[in-house]
This record gives sequence, C-alpha cells and structure tokens, in this order.
Amino acid sequence: MKMTDIHKQVSRDYVRMLEAASSRSPCCAPPSGPGTIAAVAGYAPEARDLDAASQSFGCGNPLAFAAVTAGQTVLDLGSGAGLDLLLAAEKVGPSGSVIGIDMTQEMVDRARANVAAAGLYNVDVRLGMIEQMPIDNASVDWVISNCVINLSPDKARVFSEIARVLKPGGRFSISDIVVEGLPDALRENATLYSACVAGAISEAAYLDGLRAAGLDDLHVVERQVYEESQLVSLITSEIPGLELSAELIAQIAPQVVGKVWSAKFTGTRAL
Ligand SMILES: C[S@@+](CC[C@H](N)C(=O)[O-])C[C@H]1O[C@@H](n2cnc3c(N)ncnc32)[C@H](O)[C@@H]1O
Repeated sequence: MKMTDIHKQVSRDYVRMLEAASSRSPCCAPPSGPGTIAAVAGYAPEARDLDAASQSFGCGNPLAFAAVTAGQTVLDLGSGAGLDLLLAAEKVGPSGSVIGIDMTQEMVDRARANVAAAGLYNVDVRLGMIEQMPIDNASVDWVISNCVINLSPDKARVFSEIARVLKPGGRFSISDIVVEGLPDALRENATLYSACVAGAISEAAYLDGLRAAGLDDLHVVERQVYEESQLVSLITSEIPGLELSAELIAQIAPQVVGKVWSAKFTGTRAL
C-alpha cells in the first residue's frame, strides 16, 4: 500500500472505532467490554473510570515509567481521545503544558471535549501528522506515545521528528506494539494494520530506528507478551464494526501468539 493510502485507511478506521466506542453502552458492549483496553494496558482504576478511558486504544501506560515533573512540557504523539493528555496534565500541573497531535479531526475534537470536561486549560490538541509534527525544534521535555508509531508507514521519519522536537536532555517514553516473525500473509491484511499488528516492526528494529535518529540511553523497560485470549480480546475490542470477523480473528490469533507484544521504550536526546 502507498503511504497516503495507509494514512487514509488508518484515519478512516480510527474514526469508525471512536464512533463505535462512544456509542457502546454496558448492555451491548463487546465481550471484552469498554475500558478493557485501558485495564490490559495497565492504567490505575481511577484512570479507567474517565470517559476518555472507554475511548482509549492504547497498549500500555507510557506515563507509568516517565518521571514527568511539575512545570514541564509533554508531547503525546497520536493522542486519540486524550486519556494520556489528562494524566500528563495532572503530572505537569498548571505551570506546565501538554500538547497532543492526532491526524483525525474527530479524535482531536473528542480529545478537546474530554480536556474541556476535565476543566484543563494547559492542554493544546493539534491536528497533524507525527511524521511532520507541528511543533517547534527543541521545545518539549517529554515525548510520550501510546500504540501509534506502529501505524506509521515512515517510522524513521517519526523517530527523527522525536529527536528534533525534544530539548537537549529531554526524554521519551513510548508504549507500542512490536512483532517478531509475523506470517507474510498477515502483513498484507489492511484491517490488521489498523489493529496495530501488521505494520509493527521488531523490538530490535525499533531500537535501531531510535538510535539512527540520534536518540540515546535506550531501554525497553517493560514487555507484555499477549496470550491468545488477550490477542482476541484486544483485536475485537479495537476494531468493533470492522471487516475482520470473529471467525477470522479466532484463526489469526493462534498464528501470532508469542510473536506480538507491547513494549515500553525509554530514551533521551543527549545534551
Ligand atoms: C491506536 S490509537 C491510540 C490513541 C491513543 N494514543 C490512546 O492511547 O488511546 C492510534 C491513534 O493515532 C492516530 N494516528 C495514527 N497514525 C498517525 C499519524 N501518522 N499521525 C498522527 N496521528 C496518527 C490515530 O488517528 C489514532 O487516534
């Protein structure tokens, strides 16, 4: 698929997923239920109660290992409905600021609504691409991201943008899906691409990409290897209403068990 086609497909799918997540009620939720993704991703129960948590499509909790402090500037790549923006705003306090970037207007609007409902004035949600961030050079203390870079068709560009926008000494904490030895046939599946599987790269390739962009002190601080039931649950709750049938997911899941995990990467832009 061409780069622009991937962006179009991913945008279209996430708008549909957001609509489906927003209209879910407990009575007709998928088997995994609203908030499952946030629970599996490791958010505290208080965070899982926020509206933004039921509209969350993350695969980790990037702030859990980030020593964000009051007054800092945090940038969230692919901020979606804004759960991590709300949690970051709590950490930086009123003297700090938080910026989210997302490529779909619907996600940007939803995040802005969730931010306004939380009464926050220091969160700025921008429409934009993570391959070409609408952010000044050397302007942020922390870059965070939750299950987004796997969706980019140009990961090298994203990694160099991270290096560009971080202040010298700035840090990043990224939760993302990585895969090892995914069968080629599954790589071609466009819906699995949007489900954060088919576009994912290996952990080693991820680290190489970050290093090639000039980022330093790289670590994988956490890994969550999905069991078959978690894969089924994550894929089905990520893509309600999309073209992947329950039968097909049941066929795919055993083929990818042990090959797909969520990894948390940390690192820094050297001084
Ligand atoms: C899996 S969701 C994760 C959303 C959010 N981080 C969360 O944890 O709920 C991926 C999000 O990234 C956005 N996205 C995907 N590719 C993007 C790109 N190249 N540039 C900007 N946003 C992108 C999508 O619109 C979607 O909101």
